[in-house]
Amino acid sequence: MKYSRITGTGSYLPEKVLTNHDLEKIVDTSDRWIVERTGIRKRHVAADDQTTCDLAEYAARRAMQAAGVSAGDIDLVIVATTTPDQVFPSTACLLQQRLDIHGCCAFDIQAVCTGFVYAMGIADKFIRTGSARCALVVGAETLSRIVDWSDRSTCVLFGDGAGAVVLQASDEPGILSSHLHADGSYESLLRVPVGVSQGYDRLKEEGAYIEMKGNEVFKMAVNTLGRIVDETLEANGLEKGDVDWLIPHQANIRIINATAKKLKMPTDRVVITVAEHGNTSAASVPLALDTAVRDRRIRRGELLLMEAFGGGFTWGSVLLRY
Ligand code: UT7
Repeated sequence: MKYSRITGTGSYLPEKVLTNHDLEKIVDTSDRWIVERTGIRKRHVAADDQTTCDLAEYAARRAMQAAGVSAGDIDLVIVATTTPDQVFPSTACLLQQRLDIHGCCAFDIQAVCTGFVYAMGIADKFIRTGSARCALVVGAETLSRIVDWSDRSTCVLFGDGAGAVVLQASDEPGILSSHLHADGSYESLLRVPVGVSQGYDRLKEEGAYIEMKGNEVFKMAVNTLGRIVDETLEANGLEKGDVDWLIPHQANIRIINATAKKLKMPTDRVVITVAEHGNTSAASVPLALDTAVRDRRIRRGELLLMEAFGGGFTWGSVLLRY
């Protein structure tokens, strides 16, 4: 089997919705500012008793159902998340337990907003090398837990959700290439500066929140995503315009539009969910994919380009034949 191919997609959004007008009551912001600068109109927020694994479970079950696979078929579980339920076990192990999957390799990937793209690249390599035949790949986040709800420059941007795919070994083209990158020297522009081995006491007392120099991140995101698009096309001998669908990370409509322009793609070939979902980090690409698969915009045989950029910085792309 030469390829790994998506055989099912699924996603889940928590019931609670926070609109821009709701945020106007919390911080000094306006619906107009948020829509103009980001394209976001609302975001979903997990209930107090809902965890990342809860969201992941819904999305995973839907993807497995769409693929027609059962727990016994899955031989690799990867969860991309920055907001795991526990320090350990990994959310992938917790999800494995929920789904009654036993014995196969299961682990989390932490590459912030690029997490799902990383997870797809890794799962593809497992399948191509014959180490796995049927992978469950999930991006799931409860970003609302690490948002400083008094910081208007970040709290309007993020949301919660989960998306999942089943990737299976196939002779027919699926993933054609993946391109994964990171440069840790940009740590100070986007981070949560507290963790287990640094500032854990502070975390317990004061919480740990996203800090971002938005404007600088914005410029880096636009330039870097432009480059990753070129890298992906070149590696596959493709021209701009050959791609059927762009499935971008949903951080900001202006970043998405800049990448689409670079690809010479009309807006109606770009899957855009940022208005309804906000930035759900590792969940954003699989949420967008599942949305466009289920509303039948994306058809079998079409060429999809997924790309993402996030904290680290990390960035990457996956080109695949759906
Ligand atoms: O997913 C990982 C990658 N993340 C991203 O890609 C996010 C990248 N960054 C962005 O999307 C944008 O930089 C933001 C949406 C975060 C900010 O947009 P911006 O156009 O870069 O605005 P800015 O940060 O330059 O701020 C412009 C003004 C400032 O006021 P002054 O200094 O010009 O008076 C801010 O204080 O907008 C102000 N501002 C707000 N005003 C109303 C910042 N946040 C808000 C707000 N409501 N929520």
